[in-house]
Amino acid sequence: MTPSLWRCPLCREPLSLTGRTFACTNRHSFDQAKEGYVNLLLVNRKHSADPGDNKEMLESRRHFLQQGFYAPLAEGLAQTIREYFPDPTLPLTVLDAGCGEGYYLNKLAQQLGENAQCFGTDISRAAMRLAAKAYPAMQFAVASSFELPLPDASVDVLVRVFAPASEAEIARVLKPGGLYLWAYPAAQHLFELRQLIYDDPKPHSVEELPPIAGMVECPPLQVNYRVILPDQATVAALLAMTPYYWSASAEKQAHCQGLQSLDLTVDFCVTVMRKGD
Ligand SMILES: C[S@@+](CC[C@H](N)C(=O)[O-])C[C@H]1O[C@@H](n2cnc3c(N)ncnc32)[C@H](O)[C@@H]1O
Ligand SMILES: [Zn+2]
Repeated sequence: MTPSLWRCPLCREPLSLTGRTFACTNRHSFDQAKEGYVNLLLVNRKHSADPGDNKEMLESRRHFLQQGFYAPLAEGLAQTIREYFPDPTLPLTVLDAGCGEGYYLNKLAQQLGENAQCFGTDISRAAMRLAAKAYPAMQFAVASSFELPLPDASVDVLVRVFAPASEAEIARVLKPGGLYLWAYPAAQHLFELRQLIYDDPKPHSVEELPPIAGMVECPPLQVNYRVILPDQATVAALLAMTPYYWSASAEKQAHCQGLQSLDLTVDFCVTVMRKGD
C-alpha cells in the first residue's frame, strides 16, 4: 500500500495505492486507468458527459507546443519558481491545475530536476489520458480546479496556464509560503491572427485578478516575442486550439486554413502570488 497526495473526492480522506486501485479508509475506491492516471471527478460534479477539451483540441495543442513555440513561457515559469525556491536539493511539490496534455508540467519537471514531484489535474479525461501516456513519471488525475483532490497546505507551487480555476481552492492547497503562477494571454497575444479573423481586432482585454485572501502579490512576469509558424499544418494546429478562430466566418476560416506560414506576436503575462506564512 503506497500513500499518495490525492484525496478521496467523496470523504476527503487520503488515498493509498494498492496494485492499481486508489482507496481511502472508508473503502471508496478509484481504479487507475491503464495509462496511469486516476479519475477523481465525481459524476454528479460533471456539467456535461465529457467535460473539458476534447481529443482533437488536445492533439492540436500537443502538435503545436511540441515544436517549442511557447517554450519561453515554460522557461520563464521554471526560472520564477527557482527565484522563490532556489535550492534544487530540497523537495518541491508542483501542481499544474488544468494542465491539458501536460506540456508545461513536463517542461517544469525537466527544468526543476528530480526533487520536484509533479502533479497534474484537468477536467478532461482525454487530456489526462494523453498526459499520463507521455509522462509516466508524473501523477495525473481527472479533477476540477474548483474542487482539487488535494489536502490543505500540501503544494509548494501551483501553476495555472490558460485554464479556469477557483482562487479560493488555490489558496487552500498551497503551503504557507507557496507560490501561485497564473499565465494568461496579454494584450498583443496572437494579434496578427486576430487581424485575420476580425474586421476590427481589439487588443486582448487583460483580466484583473482580485486580491485573494491570505495571498501576497509579487512582481508579475511578462513574456513576449515573435514566432514564425513555418507550415500549413502548424497554422492549422494553432487555429484548432484558439477559441476565437471558431467565431470567424466560414470564409475567414478557409483563408486562415490556407496560410502556408504565419508571423505572430506571442504575448503572455504571468501573475505571481505567494501565500503568507
Ligand atoms: C486552454 S486549455 C490549457 C491547457 C494547458 N494548461 C496548456 O496550456 O496547454 C484549458 C484547459 O482547462 C481544462 N479545464 C476546463 N475547465 C476546467 C475545470 N473546471 N477544471 C480543470 N480543468 C478545466 C480544459 O480541459 C483544458 O485542458
Ligand atoms: Zn473516501
